[in-house]
Amino acid sequence: MDVIVGAGVVGLSVAWRLARDGRPVTLVDPAPASGASHAAAGMLAPVSEVSYTEAPLLRLGAASLRRWPGFAAELAADAGLPGAEALDLRSDGTLDVAFGADDLAALDELAAYMEKLELPVERLSGRECRRLEPMLAPSVRGGLLAPGDAWVDPRRVTAALLAALDRLGVPLVRARVGELLRDGGGRVTGVRLEPPGGETPSQTPSQTPSPAASAEPGGRASEIRAERVVLAAGAWSAGLAEVPVRPVKGQIMRLRSPQPLLTRCVRGTVHGTPVYLVPRGDGELVVGATQEEMGFDTRVTAGGLYELLRDARELVPGVTELEVADVVAGLRPGTPDNLPVIGPSGTPGLALATGHHRGGVLLAPLTADILRGEEGELAALCAPGRFREIS
Ligand code: GLY
Repeated sequence: MDVIVGAGVVGLSVAWRLARDGRPVTLVDPAPASGASHAAAGMLAPVSEVSYTEAPLLRLGAASLRRWPGFAAELAADAGLPGAEALDLRSDGTLDVAFGADDLAALDELAAYMEKLELPVERLSGRECRRLEPMLAPSVRGGLLAPGDAWVDPRRVTAALLAALDRLGVPLVRARVGELLRDGGGRVTGVRLEPPGGETPSQTPSQTPSPAASAEPGGRASEIRAERVVLAAGAWSAGLAEVPVRPVKGQIMRLRSPQPLLTRCVRGTVHGTPVYLVPRGDGELVVGATQEEMGFDTRVTAGGLYELLRDARELVPGVTELEVADVVAGLRPGTPDNLPVIGPSGTPGLALATGHHRGGVLLAPLTADILRGEEGELAALCAPGRFREIS
């Protein structure tokens, strides 16, 4: 049996794909779908999120983006939803806009780089940008359209994954993993659960641990044995194994609009800070996101929200008219080279599916396929073995 530690979009996707293959799986998480996946905007934007040093990340992102339509259709079917549109999967592209001469020059360089990689991008004047998105500020002087970029609502995706797993009968144990169990040879053989208490929700009948679990006197499982433990605990992964993952805080805001302000994702650099706006089908507009190295701090701050709104208003002045629906801070799992850490670790019995940084939602389908043993060449790009310290 596989035990998946972490029920964010990555852990849930891995569990769902493995369960669909007929593998016995148990998921463990004290609060499923409440971490970075709950905060995420859901951009499936390998092209517009790339930078010059990140060609391998671009390859991973492009490969995962190609999987998204099939992944979403199968997920919707397994979750009992009418279709992939129930996940708000849209593929109308990203428009990256520029204001000043420096930003325009950066867009030119990016466009040349993309063309070299034969990626679909279109360089636009300010007027052409406003023709596509009339709510853009008059001061926008140019843009780069990545027509193939897509996005999805991550909250709908994780809800669908939970529903699909429930329908497949996959146990979900609402508990925190205190440590990985190891045998005398160092092999990982399961997980030890922290005792219930505090705010940890109790288990429901559908979350009965597997027969491989041992119980405390009160009936609550204290350990779950596994052939393989898959660590998908995002920024918390480093607390359980030697993996170079650190929290990168992102504050994000959801605004509500009676009429959609935008038809596609819009991003730009304002005062040297990148900002993006992601429109949902129901009129919601997601504005994100700060990038802060603050450790495990998930406070939403006045300064963070001020910067988001100030920068978003430069791009689309009309945002200040909208109702604030939600503000949240999440912790991205960052790695030293910005690439995820996916696959068998140096320790027998332990696999990793973490370190997705800004791309957890985008990379979830590819991550699941790598954990299923597919994708040798792409798997090599994110293999844990590239870090000496991993065990
Ligand atoms: N993928 C966007 C972000 O992490 O803010």
